[in-house]
Amino acid sequence: MDSKIKKIGILTGGGDCSGLNAVINAVTKTAITKYGIEVIGYRRGYFGLYTNDFMKLDLKAVSGIMHQGGTMLKSSNKDNLFNYAMKNPDGTITYKDVSDVALENMKREGVDALIVLGGDGTLTSARDFARMGMTVIGIPKTIDNDLPATDVTFGYNTSLETITDALDKIHTTAFSHDRVMVVEVMGRNTGWLAVEGGLAGSADVILIPEIPYDLEKVAEKIAERDSSGKLFSVVVVSEGAKPKGGEIFVREIIEDSADSIRLGGLGALVTKQLQEIIPSHEVRYTNLAYLQRGGITSQFDRSLGMKFGVAAVDLVMSGESSRMVIYKNNEIQHIPLVDVVGSGVVGETSKGGSKFVDPNGTVVSTCKAMGISFGD
Ligand code: F6P
Repeated sequence: MDSKIKKIGILTGGGDCSGLNAVINAVTKTAITKYGIEVIGYRRGYFGLYTNDFMKLDLKAVSGIMHQGGTMLKSSNKDNLFNYAMKNPDGTITYKDVSDVALENMKREGVDALIVLGGDGTLTSARDFARMGMTVIGIPKTIDNDLPATDVTFGYNTSLETITDALDKIHTTAFSHDRVMVVEVMGRNTGWLAVEGGLAGSADVILIPEIPYDLEKVAEKIAERDSSGKLFSVVVVSEGAKPKGGEIFVREIIEDSADSIRLGGLGALVTKQLQEIIPSHEVRYTNLAYLQRGGITSQFDRSLGMKFGVAAVDLVMSGESSRMVIYKNNEIQHIPLVDVVGSGVVGETSKGGSKFVDPNGTVVSTCKAMGISFGD
C-alpha cells in the first residue's frame, strides 16, 4: 500500500486493565506484517511522549505478551500535556501547555501517526493532538464498562471473572463462620461490575450507584435469610454507591489529573454501619481493589483487544484521523473522537455522561427475581 504513514507511535494512558497488551501486540503485528511499517511505543503514556522515552516495537518485543494483564509500555493517569504540572524551585506548581514538545519529539523520530489507548482524559488529549494536525486514532479502555459509545470494552470481562471467582471463594468463609461478608468492587459512578459480578457470584445484596441504598433494608434482607436458615450473607458494594439522601464516598482528589475524583473505601464504612445495625452477626470486609485490574486476560478481552488493534492500524493506513474504534452490535466500528471525549462520555471521569445500569432493566430485574436485594 502506498501510504505516507511509515511509522506509528502507540501509548497507553489512564488506569491499566487486561487487554492492553493484546492491543499492543495486534497493532505491532498488523503494522509490520500487513503494511511493512515501523512501530514505537512511548513509555508511561503522555509522559513518555513529552520526555521522548520510547522503545522500538518489533515482533520479538511483543512476543508472549498477549495474555498478560497490565501494559508492557506502562501507564500514567496524570500528565496532561496541554495543562502540564511543572514544579518551580520554590515547590509551587505552574501549569503549562507542553504539547508542542511532544509534537516536536514525534516529528524528530519520524512518527507519522499516534494510536492512543485510554479513557476520557487520555483520549481528550488525543483529540487535541489531532486538532494540531497529527494523525491520531483512539482506542477506549476501562474495566468499568461505562462507555455509552461502545457496547463493551476490553478489561471488563476479565474483571468480572475475578469478581465472580472472589465471591465463590468468599462464600466458603461466609458459610463456615455464619458471617456477613462485605465485598467492595470498582466501577466508578456505575454499577456494572457490581451487578454483573454479584449476579454471577451469588451475592445476596448488591449496592450500586444507580439505586441509592438504605442499610436498614440490607439488614432486613439478612434477617430474612437468617429466618430461612441461611445464617450467612454476601453483600457486594460498588465503590460509587450512595445511601438514600446521601453523598458518594470520595477517597481522594488529585488536582493534576483529568479524572481528579478517586473513589474506594465505601465498603469499610458500610461494614462498620451494618455491624452496628446487626450486632448478632460478625460483619467482615474485603476490598477487591486492584485485583480487578490484573491477572491473565480472558479470551473475550484478548479477542476484543486484537480486533481494536487491527482496526486502529487499518484506519491509520486508510488515511483516517481523529476517530475512536468501538464495538457495536457485534461489529468493530469507528466514530469521531470529538463526539465522545471531553464531556465525560468516554467514561474515565467523574464529570458524568456515563452508561449507567438501568434500575428497571434486565440485569436488575434478573437479580431481583433471583432474590438479590439492592437495599432499596
Ligand atoms: O476506571 C478504572 C478504575 O479502576 C475505577 O474502577 C477505579 O475507581 C479507578 O480506576 C481507580 O483508579 P486509580 O488507579 O487512580 O486508583
